[in-house]
Amino acid sequence: MEVLERAQEMQRQGRSVIHLEVGEPDFPTPEPICESAIRAVRDGHTHYTHSLGSLRLREAIARNCSARHGVEVSADRIMVTAGSSQAMLYAFGALIRPGDEVIMATPHYPCYPNFIRFFGGVPVQIGANAADGYKLDPDRVKEAVTDRTRLLLVNSPANPTGAVLDLERLRALAEIGVPILSDEIYHGIVYGEPAPSALSVTDRAIVVDGFSKRHCMTGWRLGYIIAPQEMMRTLQTMQQNFMISAGAFVQEAAVTAIEQGDAATEEMVGAYRARRDLIVSLFRDLGFGIPALPDGAFYVFADASRFTRDSLAFAFELLECAGVAVAPGIDFGEAGKRSVRLCYAASVSDIREAARRIAKYLECREHRVED
Ligand SMILES: Cc1ncc(COP(=O)(O)O)c(C=O)c1O
Repeated sequence: MEVLERAQEMQRQGRSVIHLEVGEPDFPTPEPICESAIRAVRDGHTHYTHSLGSLRLREAIARNCSARHGVEVSADRIMVTAGSSQAMLYAFGALIRPGDEVIMATPHYPCYPNFIRFFGGVPVQIGANAADGYKLDPDRVKEAVTDRTRLLLVNSPANPTGAVLDLERLRALAEIGVPILSDEIYHGIVYGEPAPSALSVTDRAIVVDGFSKRHCMTGWRLGYIIAPQEMMRTLQTMQQNFMISAGAFVQEAAVTAIEQGDAATEEMVGAYRARRDLIVSLFRDLGFGIPALPDGAFYVFADASRFTRDSLAFAFELLECAGVAVAPGIDFGEAGKRSVRLCYAASVSDIREAARRIAKYLECREHRVED
């Protein structure tokens, strides 16, 4: 956020900045979804809904889960929330007591440890290996289990690495026997086989998901949680007290996203794929280490150790001197202290220009060092 805020300040001063730091789609929300929201407002969907979310949307989510993963969940195991962020807040709030340990991969989404610590929990971070495509290793998870372990947190496709866990690996993780909380917000944005849901390997998995990424609806704030039946009453009570319900007309638009959104998602994934291939090739040429192509989401986690030992200082250096904003790897855990995260939800021309600017800057910098 600090890189973004400084970038915006520079832009206000008239300087040109290319944004590769922000983690959201650069496409507008598809037209049918917008139209549906406008219609819903006109039709009076402007009041609270059921605290679990409108039945129409929960049934659509259940059908979608069945179509995408072949997994049957009933609408009463689904609760609609303001983004998957709120779903995560409720899940951790319902499950974590002080001292409970939550096992997760690192590099990781920066908010995870914050959520866990907020409820007095202890994040237990397992270093994921770049050469293994940053995938969580079940053997290392097994070694990390203690009598305080409460949850295993998985994120596939992952932010910031783009790692996708296949069915076999998910199954091995489920067999460890620790309850799984699966963040599936990047589902649908994959470049090979579809990412399986944790629900495909255990119907006890708690899944958080939403509309932000695959339907370009970050600002609409809509997500959901799928949980075992016995958790639902606790989750619902939290929703009734903290939020009452998610936005009514937004829920109507989300039904349209589910029913009509696939073609738009497919088109965007095609564009992301081309951008991924381009950014990886350009940044490898610049000297960044990217051992494997990311399989999903829209990020590349690139090793910048040839240029820096301090990713935060390096991110600000690239911003000030090259006019390119990237996310410092340290945000995603200690393992990222010499890396940067590049978000390729940016246009092809921006990606090319970012690489050109960084090349020029790194060349001057090298000459300065030699002088
Ligand atoms: C891994 C991951 N999970 C969850 C979220 C939150 O998404 P939202 O609250 O918009 O559903 C993000 C947002 O960047 C993310 O990267």
